[in-house]
Amino acid sequence: MDAVDVIVTKRDGRELSTGQIDWVLDAYTRGVVADEQMSALAMAILLNGMNRREIADWTQAMIRSGSRMDWSGLPGRTTDKHSTGGVGDKITLPLAPLVAACGGYVPQLSGRGLGHTGGTLDKLESIPGWRASLSGREMLGVLGETGAVVCAAGEGLAPADRKLYALRDVTGTVESIPLIASSIMSKKIAEGTGALVLDVKVGSGAFMKTVERARELATTMVELGTDAGVRTVALLTAMDRPLGRTVGNALEVAESVEVLAGGGPADVVELTLRLAHEMLQAAGIDGDPERALRDGSAMDVWRRMIAAQGGDPDAPLPRAAETLEVTAPESGVLTGLDAYGVGLAAWRLGAGRERKEDPVSFGAGVVLHAGLGETVRRGQPLMTLHADDASRFERALAALDGAYVIAEGGAAEALPLVIDRITA
Ligand code: URA
Repeated sequence: MDAVDVIVTKRDGRELSTGQIDWVLDAYTRGVVADEQMSALAMAILLNGMNRREIADWTQAMIRSGSRMDWSGLPGRTTDKHSTGGVGDKITLPLAPLVAACGGYVPQLSGRGLGHTGGTLDKLESIPGWRASLSGREMLGVLGETGAVVCAAGEGLAPADRKLYALRDVTGTVESIPLIASSIMSKKIAEGTGALVLDVKVGSGAFMKTVERARELATTMVELGTDAGVRTVALLTAMDRPLGRTVGNALEVAESVEVLAGGGPADVVELTLRLAHEMLQAAGIDGDPERALRDGSAMDVWRRMIAAQGGDPDAPLPRAAETLEVTAPESGVLTGLDAYGVGLAAWRLGAGRERKEDPVSFGAGVVLHAGLGETVRRGQPLMTLHADDASRFERALAALDGAYVIAEGGAAEALPLVIDRITA
């Protein structure tokens, strides 16, 4: 086979054969197909698309480039959730222990944040002592002992995707639904979960800005999971405004612990419970998440899960050295609170990273004091910015310019928290 033939096939809008897909991904992983050739192919795919069979073959070839995890030795069923990422999306933190407390096993291989959305590992690493990198044996140990493990995906999981994703990031080819769907699903299928719930975010703070694009991505991923024997369902959920009242690593951990303690913002609680029901249903487990939150059993799992990875669940969380309050410039109803603007502000405060090797500030971020649709009075605190260095405030304030709208007697226009549910 020849890389140029494969590129030309897709450039001319024709279907790639199973043999072409298997060969090109294997050769790329081994370094036989060069980055510039894979870039051309990724662009041809972005422009001309792939059909369901091609996407399934592409996904399977990426899975075969590495190892597949096997949890068949566990005494119960595995079930996981993947979010396409959003601002203030800390749901994995209360959700994984909650589902474990209801009898599911949650093997979550997670990532770090890049750009304005946060990564679950960055959030958990703000807990003193907590370790993201585990060996396969350690993962199985934590999962078997506590019912949930959240850790970094090892080098061996879909290495073709690891290489291709880095290339897409610098060649303008991230935004292809076939490539996004196969990238996410190759990792989730290789992770070995039996059931999977996808939380596909929609809005300014999400990858997918419109319900139509999000629905197309969700449908493609549900088909891929189902074809691979993973019971898969997707929810489309709102990311036009931030989720909850905190954005930033340690701030989000604190909010997640509040949820596990029976409190927390209504939207975080609602989405956590909804996703827990979906995860349990997909795995065929009869559980009562509302009770597990109420009776403290989800909190017990959280504490064991954090301790099993070296973390101290009682240790004080890192706090940023500097804070700045943003007050309401006028009285009225908060009719707009843009997820992207708030996410960008948190990122500029130090909560996120610019390049993947950069460190994050654990204490940095934004605490919101008013939610969409609430009435505020002039001079009332709207949000508090947290940063290690006060010089970061100016650019964070610039990101917030126009990100909130206060209107006299106005009503907030917002997406419903759960917009749609997609099944096979
Ligand atoms: N997340 C992934 O893992 N892959 C993509 O292509 C996009 C988001």
